[in-house]
Amino acid sequence: DFADPAHRPLFGKRVLVTAGPTHEPIDPVRYIANRSSGRQGFAIAQAAAELGADVTLIAGPVHLTTPPGVIRIDVESAREMLAEVEKALPADVAIMVAAVADWRAADEAEQKIKKDGKAVPPLELAENPDILAMLGKHKQRPALLIGFAAETEKVVEHAQAKLAKKGCDWIVANDVSGDVMGGANNAVHIVTKDGVESLADAPKDVIARKLMEKVANAVGQD
Ligand code: CTP
Ligand code: CA
Repeated sequence: DFADPAHRPLFGKRVLVTAGPTHEPIDPVRYIANRSSGRQGFAIAQAAAELGADVTLIAGPVHLTTPPGVIRIDVESAREMLAEVEKALPADVAIMVAAVADWRAADEAEQKIKKDGKAVPPLELAENPDILAMLGKHKQRPALLIGFAAETEKVVEHAQAKLAKKGCDWIVANDVSGDVMGGANNAVHIVTKDGVESLADAPKDVIARKLMEKVANAVGQD
């Protein structure tokens, strides 16, 4: 019953979500990417909308349909994602689910790089801006700032270090040593300054709904 305010505890709240991978161009036909499908981020955007929030979803290149009621902005690269995140402020809650590429090609070739039959081309990398860390010190910092962390080992320990490094409130850590990236299920540990809450392996939409209910409890009533 969506007319009942109890069922839309995020009514009037602006929630910003990033999702998917980024593509970092090398030349007009080639790019650097990663295995993120965007499914967990899209499920979170959907759950936030279902709980009544005004949701802006900034998506890297993915093959997914936009959840009902969600405003979606498509981007390719980390730098484009950063620009759209800043434009989408202010927000009450920001959840950075995107698997932002850590590095891009230092120089983007204007024309397709050709084989010359001799040396292979060098691929020099440059570090991308850290969107979550930028929000952590932004003058319009969202009141609740949440990062995701994909880890293959020491999952909670690495998440605790990232909380401090990024200036965010929660890190949702998932173990990607299995086939989580692109899969239908996820198991996560929500790491906050108060401790760790673990959500057992479940479909990504179930994880999304539980996470957003915790968000609603944190910011919903004021
Ligand atoms: N993130 C971001 N911008 C980047 C890199 C990461 O906003 N350039 C965000 C991600 O969306 C995620 C969080 O930071 O919410 C953690 O990402 P992760 O890749 O786990 O952290 P890194 O600081 O990049 O560390 P690592 O060396 O483990 O990749
Ligand atoms: Ca990274």
